[in-house]
Amino acid sequence: MIAEDFILKNYNSNIERGAVKWESPSNIALVKYWGKKKNQIPENPSISFTLSNCKTITKLTYTKKESKNFSFEVYFEGEKNEAFKPKIQTFFERIEEYVPFLRDYHFKIETSNTFPHSSGIASSASGMSALALCLMSVERSLSVVEVADKVFKQKASFLARLGSGSACRSIEGELVVWGQNESTESSDLYGIKFDGEVHPNFKDYQDTILLVDKGEKQVSSTVGHKLMFGHPFAEQRFAQAHDNLAKLKTVLASGDLQTFVKIVESEALTLHAMMMTSMPYFILMKPNTLEIINKIWKYRAENDSNVCFTLDAGANVHVLYPENEKESVLKFIKNELAEFCQNGHFITDFIGKGAQLHN
Ligand code: DP6
Repeated sequence: MIAEDFILKNYNSNIERGAVKWESPSNIALVKYWGKKKNQIPENPSISFTLSNCKTITKLTYTKKESKNFSFEVYFEGEKNEAFKPKIQTFFERIEEYVPFLRDYHFKIETSNTFPHSSGIASSASGMSALALCLMSVERSLSVVEVADKVFKQKASFLARLGSGSACRSIEGELVVWGQNESTESSDLYGIKFDGEVHPNFKDYQDTILLVDKGEKQVSSTVGHKLMFGHPFAEQRFAQAHDNLAKLKTVLASGDLQTFVKIVESEALTLHAMMMTSMPYFILMKPNTLEIINKIWKYRAENDSNVCFTLDAGANVHVLYPENEKESVLKFIKNELAEFCQNGHFITDFIGKGAQLHN
């Protein structure tokens, strides 16, 4: 597929109005996307677990209009929201070539998250994928030809990517790869469900998100990705991501949890190392992030456990562990890690199957 293949050519513009609703989850990368080229093309491949509980629910109501400008209003958790509009405006500008009906309708976007707004959990992956899926449902209702499910999902992921790169990995579950590579079926243009074998050790894998810092991010992802231009370690980092993805593919098939832990933690620390060694440089971890990491390492050594951590571009810690350790690790989190979270706050989640249409 090339980008031009996603341009909608013929559609029925007689439809006056309609409404659709989708819920779409967040995802957590195991091999990180960090650095992008023009048009939201990633510098390196990434793979993520799709989550279940952390999601965005978006209803899109569309009404035919005469004027040819973009027209939309946004409601977040029931209240009119102006703050989200610029990001959606940019999204519309990036995708209009592929969904030309954008200018034919007025859109009412009503959206909410299952996780608290000020939790420091990025809602761009779940939010942009939910909106992209809603637009695909509009496309389906206007389309003069049948839109096959595979094409629907592929294009939803393609559009979501243009909103926020990691959002393209939120359409499906349970593992999604984005970015061309030698090890898996892949594309730079959209996320693809991981096509390799997955050992039962990874079934219902758990992710408990420790909310260390609920504040605004110190560096937006967009700024962060730009710091990879001219970064002294960029080429080595991109090559390492390919290598880690190849290794992870083997690990996912064999169920080798010890190697899984090493790859995932190294990826998280490398992501932060990239930020610490860019110009300007940033430290996004907080003292409590390090407290938690050290506690996890101690617990793992003392309990013969396979619990590990990963990080996004922020201070919060994702604690990953197999389902059969759920009871013991949750106890450990409550007793020893919750004290390092803001107001003791954490969110329990697990690997999920992807977005869902609400009828
Ligand atoms: C650190 O997808 O938020 O979470 O494409 O600029 O919207 P934009 O960036 P975004 O970057 C996420 C980066 C990451 C790692 C990852 O999810 O792979």
